[in-house]
Amino acid sequence: MNKLSRIRVEKLLADFRKRRVLVVGDVMLDQFIYGSVARISPEAPVPVLEVVRDEWHPGGAANTARNVRSLGGQAVLVGRVGKDAAADQLRALLREEGVEVGDLLMRADLPTISKARLIAQHQQLCRVDRERCAPLTPEETAKVIGFVRSQRKFDAIIVCDYGKGFVTQAFLDAIKRLARVVTLDPKPTRSLRLGGLTAMTPNRAETLQLAGRPGGDGDWRAAGEAVLRKWRPKMLLSTLGEHGMCLFQRGTDPVHIPTVAREVFDVSGAGDTVIAAFTLALASGATPVEAAVISNHAAGVVVGKLGTATCKPEELRANFRA
Ligand SMILES: Nc1ncnc2c1ncn2[C@@H]1O[C@H](COP(=O)(O)OP(=O)(O)OP(=O)(O)O)[C@@H](O)[C@H]1O
Ligand SMILES: [Mg+2]
Repeated sequence: MNKLSRIRVEKLLADFRKRRVLVVGDVMLDQFIYGSVARISPEAPVPVLEVVRDEWHPGGAANTARNVRSLGGQAVLVGRVGKDAAADQLRALLREEGVEVGDLLMRADLPTISKARLIAQHQQLCRVDRERCAPLTPEETAKVIGFVRSQRKFDAIIVCDYGKGFVTQAFLDAIKRLARVVTLDPKPTRSLRLGGLTAMTPNRAETLQLAGRPGGDGDWRAAGEAVLRKWRPKMLLSTLGEHGMCLFQRGTDPVHIPTVAREVFDVSGAGDTVIAAFTLALASGATPVEAAVISNHAAGVVVGKLGTATCKPEELRANFRA
């Protein structure tokens, strides 16, 4: 059941290229500042980082959009940024990666959400965050919904909620009507009403939280069943880190899909790859189990790379063959 034939994978990959996916939600910019430390500052008891290299990558919803694009799909991104250099940088990166910027609402009073990691000799020294959470205003909501309606229909919509304010109840209620396939990467601390979605892709902790059973070692299987009963998505894809994922659907037993990664270097951002691949596959006519298996293989590819990474069709093919 967890196996797909080569012909089937090729058929779905070919279909990915025809799918146009809207990714919407909390957009971020990730920065990595690499250097080395050889001395302590004379000014304060802190290490001095001598910078060797800077890297910037799209983060949050922008990383999900980049993952859709990398898999061959057409990605259109809508989010909110500040009026600052980080916003310009983000736009440039998206252009380079072939992600279409549908609309980035600009707010002079909010910074573009950014996370800078200072890394010395492969070790993170500290992270510097810039963010101010503010709920999407009714005017902003109307603007986004107006934009989406003005476009030709999207094959799917991915909503990325990182709890920074873009995804409000009013926004979610309006956006979920605008495509046949609508998936959500949820932030359970938000206590939104989550009915009427095609699928949700919480990780293990988020699944427990959504079921109202926070705490590390809870029974995720029971929690998944509870979330399915409570919000009635067609599918619930609960990701389980090194244990892979579990697909819950109404009326059938959950299907557990173990990981396929052989070497693991960096698991950050694997959740973004999962929702990108899962949604693209569903929009391309994959069955729920096929879509889950494909997303698990795509995640297996990205955890084997350093930095928030993406998966290309040829890498997915190779991962299936291995
Ligand atoms: N240690 C690991 N070994 C192998 N595969 C992994 C590992 N961690 C994650 N994965 C793969 O990545 C998928 C998503 O991982 P996870 O459940 O950690 O999502 P997440 O917490 O949302 O991640 P993030 O928020 O960092 O993007 C898993 O379903 C699995 O396929
Ligand atoms: Mg996640």
